Amino acid sequence: WTKWTKCHFRAFLVTIAAFLDALAGLLPAAAIVSDADTIAPWLTDWRGRWSGVGSVLLQPSTTDEVAAIVEAAEAHGVALVPQGGNSSMVGGATPPADGSAVLLSLRRMNRIRSIGSDHAVVEAGVILETLQRAAEAEGARFPLDLGARGSATVGGLASTNAGGTQVLRFGTMRAQVLGMEAVLSGGLVHDSLSGLKKDNRGFSLDHLLIGAEGTLGIVTALRLRLVPGRVQRAAAWIGLDDPHQALALLRRLDAAGDRIEAFELIPDASLQRVLRHIPQTRAPLAGSWPWHVLVEAVTGAGEDPPERLLEQLLSDAPIGDAVIAQSDAHTEALWRIRHSISEAERTDGPAAQHDISLPIDHVPVFLTEEARLIEQHFPGTEATGYGHLGDGNVHFHVRAPAGAPRDWADGAKGKAVSALVHDLVTEAGGSISAEHGIGQMKKDELARLASPARMQALRAIKRAMDPHGIFNPGKLV
Ligand code: MLT
Ligand code: ZN
Repeated sequence: WTKWTKCHFRAFLVTIAAFLDALAGLLPAAAIVSDADTIAPWLTDWRGRWSGVGSVLLQPSTTDEVAAIVEAAEAHGVALVPQGGNSSMVGGATPPADGSAVLLSLRRMNRIRSIGSDHAVVEAGVILETLQRAAEAEGARFPLDLGARGSATVGGLASTNAGGTQVLRFGTMRAQVLGMEAVLSGGLVHDSLSGLKKDNRGFSLDHLLIGAEGTLGIVTALRLRLVPGRVQRAAAWIGLDDPHQALALLRRLDAAGDRIEAFELIPDASLQRVLRHIPQTRAPLAGSWPWHVLVEAVTGAGEDPPERLLEQLLSDAPIGDAVIAQSDAHTEALWRIRHSISEAERTDGPAAQHDISLPIDHVPVFLTEEARLIEQHFPGTEATGYGHLGDGNVHFHVRAPAGAPRDWADGAKGKAVSALVHDLVTEAGGSISAEHGIGQMKKDELARLASPARMQALRAIKRAMDPHGIFNPGKLV
């Protein structure tokens, strides 16, 4: 630390102390945590890529408490970093390194306010898996799923417009939000929880806040769509020669319409990584294939079982090999492999990771020809992608050459790799962030590659809705 940063850090501590004095009369003591050991795990993201500094964690349990925090934060010029399950892939919930912000955990706002067969009103800190179970108890389903279901909270999912493996049929988080409660600048509460189907009072605040990554206000509760529970489901694991074959299969399955709920593409390298690192996983097929697809089909009451549908669709398809799960346990085992990829990739050495989306027809070219081009540019690297082919969204990882330092992805080489990947994506009309958000990881790349129209609007909206600059500074824009 230079003398300058030390001096600024001390100034922040004085400011934060005055802010806490102001809050002392407004919040219960349990809502203000300053024990360093309790705070420590929340200062680093789950992959261990970003670490911040923070001496205070606020954990309100009501919307009024969040409003009091926002008002006091603006009055004292203290920045707030909202946090749910801390499962961001882009450092979106990690505080800055200069100690200028406090963490605002929404985890104690975890009540299910009401639930019925077609919607639930839940507070921001409700964990995805808890909501999924509560929906099942109503004979319904919350139609969004992802690997971090045991930690990710609905507030974070909405704030990042999360996607996952059910987007093909049901859309991203944006499609699940029917209404919202959020604390905006001035401690003012926006409330659309009544979930009007028609409401044309100008800009949709809900849709501005979805995907804003906590930079425009704090989401405190959501009204979320539930869909009828699954009657019958079955997954199939398919071995293939290349992503072109996978795309042809996806097009063939279009005939089954909504009955196909997920279509995931997995290179053999990712499968092998899961088998190596994740206990109780086994290869789904006897033979070995360079690429794999995981498909899930559902059928309704009175219809043929989904296993039969999959058999019909796959019987004369040009694929290598396939296994159709014959039990729920088998389907779960196949999904466990898919949902463990991220965890397995984390364990296996440095890689520059990209969450990109492309026009679907271009994905196979990107995963073959353009991946080879990237490897040629950066000798010793290995480029491949896995993910949601049905959505045109792949997690494109470029692994470092052997012997590279752990922080390779954040160094000059890793950044040059990411710049080339993002250039190719942009040229193809794609997006440099499909479902993980921008956070601190892609902020500079967004500014470099987004159109002037987009950047002008993002910056203007940020200035207007966060005039004191307290909402998740250093993220997104
Ligand atoms: C996934 O699809 O597994 C998640 O988005 C996380 C990841 O990028 O690995
Ligand atoms: Zn994903």
